[in-house]
Parts: sequence; C-alpha cells; structure tokens
Amino acid sequence: MWKIDHPTGKRRVIVTKELPGERWREILRAADCRIEVCQSRNILSEMEIRQHIGNRCDGAIGQLTELWGEVLFSALKNAGGVVYSNYAVGYNNVDVASATKYGIAVGNTPGVLTETTAEMAVALTFAAARRVVEADSYVRSGQFTGWQPDLFLGKRLYRKTVGVIGAGRIGSAYAKMMVEGFKMNLIYHNPAPNAALEAYLKHYTDFRHAQGDDYPTFRYAGSIDEVLAQADVISLHCPLNDATHHLLNAERLAQMKPNAILINTSRGAVIDERALVNHCRCHPDFRVGLDVFEDEPRLTPGLAELPNVTIVPHIASASRWAREGMATLAATNVAAILRGFPVWNQEDMSPFEGDNPPHAAPSIVNAVELGLLS
Ligand code: DGY
Repeated sequence: MWKIDHPTGKRRVIVTKELPGERWREILRAADCRIEVCQSRNILSEMEIRQHIGNRCDGAIGQLTELWGEVLFSALKNAGGVVYSNYAVGYNNVDVASATKYGIAVGNTPGVLTETTAEMAVALTFAAARRVVEADSYVRSGQFTGWQPDLFLGKRLYRKTVGVIGAGRIGSAYAKMMVEGFKMNLIYHNPAPNAALEAYLKHYTDFRHAQGDDYPTFRYAGSIDEVLAQADVISLHCPLNDATHHLLNAERLAQMKPNAILINTSRGAVIDERALVNHCRCHPDFRVGLDVFEDEPRLTPGLAELPNVTIVPHIASASRWAREGMATLAATNVAAILRGFPVWNQEDMSPFEGDNPPHAAPSIVNAVELGLLS
C-alpha cells in the first residue's frame, strides 16, 4: 500500500496520498528524503497513519481529510519528526497548538490555488443563477421537446450586488472577478477592511465612473448581517474555526433575500446544513452552489433531492496547475525545514514556481511561535 521512492534517502518522509505532478518528488529527493507514499484512495485513520509513522520519521505530508492532532504529532515527535505539511491552504483539520507543543512546524499551501478556487466559486454562482445542472439533466433525460419562452428562467446578475464573507486571497480574487467581469456591486465583510482589495477596486471603479457609469461600487460592511440583508449573491471564503462554525444558521439564512444565491467553497461546517436543507425546501427560488459540505463525503439527508442546490465534490482547487503547485509547496515546506532553511516571510508564492526557488519554507503557520522566521 506504500510505494517507496529514493529508498536510500537519509531522511524519511511519509505522504498519505499520491499527489499530482513530479516536481514535489524531485524537491524531496533533492533533500535526500526516502519518500513513502500511500497508494490507497481510502481516507486513512489516525491509527493507520500512526502505525506508518513508526519509530523513525522526519516529516509528513497529509490531507485535509485526516485529523492531525495530539496523537499524530506526539507519534511524529517520538519518531524524530520536525515538520508536517497539509496538502491544502485550509488547516482546520490540524491542531496547530499541539504541533507547536512538540516543536513541529506546520505548513500549508496558500497562493497557488487562489484563482482556481475563485473560478470554481464563479462557476457555481452561474450554475446556480442559470440552473445549468437542472437544465443539463432535462436535456439528457429526453424532456426537451423544443424552445420555449419560459424554459429554465434564471437570474440576471449584471449590476446586482455580490456579497463576500471573508476577503482573504480567494475571497478577494472572487470579488474582483464578479465586479470586473459582471459589473456587480460589492459588499464584503472581513475581520478588518482589506486595503489592497479596496485600492484595486478604487482604480477600477474610478475608471468606470469616469466613463459616466455609476456601476460598480464597493463597500466594507462592519457586520455579516448587513451583507446577508443586501446581497443578491453571497459567497463564503472564511476559514473554519470556532467563530465561523455554523456561521450561517437558520436565523442568518432567514436574513438573506428569499431569492438569493449562496455559494460555499470554504468549508462545509460554516453552514448549518440541516438548516440549509429546510431553508431551500421553504424557498424554492433560493439557490445554492456547494463545493464543500458539512460531513464530507456524506450528504445531509434531503440535500441531494433539492433541485435548487448544485453540488460538486470539493474540487474548487482541482485544476492540474493548482494541485501540482500545492504539491510543490507542501514538499518545499517539508524539505526546507529538514534542511534548516528559514521561513519565507512574503505573501507572494510565485518564486516557488520558478526554476530557482528560494531556499525557504514557503508557508509555516506556526513559524512565529517556533521562532523560524528569518
Ligand atoms: C484547501 O486547500 O483548503 C482546499 O479546500 C482544498 O484544496
């Protein structure tokens, strides 16, 4: 079940799933790592991973479907390990405090999946607005007997209002796509206003306004409730943590326009899915696009039967380019820490895509706590 690459490597690194591309392997080989990659497509249990860490393991690359906490980090520490990288930008599956306690650096993979993920949020937005999946099934099932004036009437988004909750890298990229591409007004909520996003949008909206068009506009909202009440489309881009668990519950769903569109490419548990199912049943004109769900891969009862919900299987970052880039970053995080390199302290990850990547670990989320920043 575990395939071994570069068996003579002095350092032992385990990788709990096969990853796309070749570059990540080259990076680990160049750091003299023996690479052990699990070939199973099953989600590994804590026990299986702990067994494979064994008595000697210098580092690991794991998946968002695995729980990396006390059990695995203590096992890694006892095996001499110093670094773990999640193969994802989100790391709600990782107990960072526990890794820090054992002196283990925790990496993630920001930057390389930003546009790809935002593009999927756009795709889901339009799939929901224009009923693409329902219409596709209608044609395939032979029900289309000819053009009709009222067939699959959907929603026009041009010059409506898009709401973004969480304006980090992906939320900002989605906001720009919707504002520039579809001339939607933006209202967004974030723990604090995003100065870079606002500076960018100011240039763009000034240009439009100079041409005599008063669309689009953008505005920071101090509360989520304002966004929910005003937006026609709401896209969630916040990390999952204690503060955002069930952020959209029955009460908050009720604050949205009854014909709004809700998109989630962040983490499933940001929405209370049982409440969502009830809301969609009661409001057939409310539309939803989900890349993630609360109890993946299981669907909350009722969700699959709702025609106003479009669901894809957590593939927002799944362009070949982004997934290979994530593998490169995860491997570089591990290799760089094993080689004693410092941690990269810039937002821009593009130098790691080039031929002469920096001698640094691209993204270590507990770098400050571990004193690893140069
Ligand atoms: C992430 O990176 O957090 C995505 O959910 C998977 O690519």
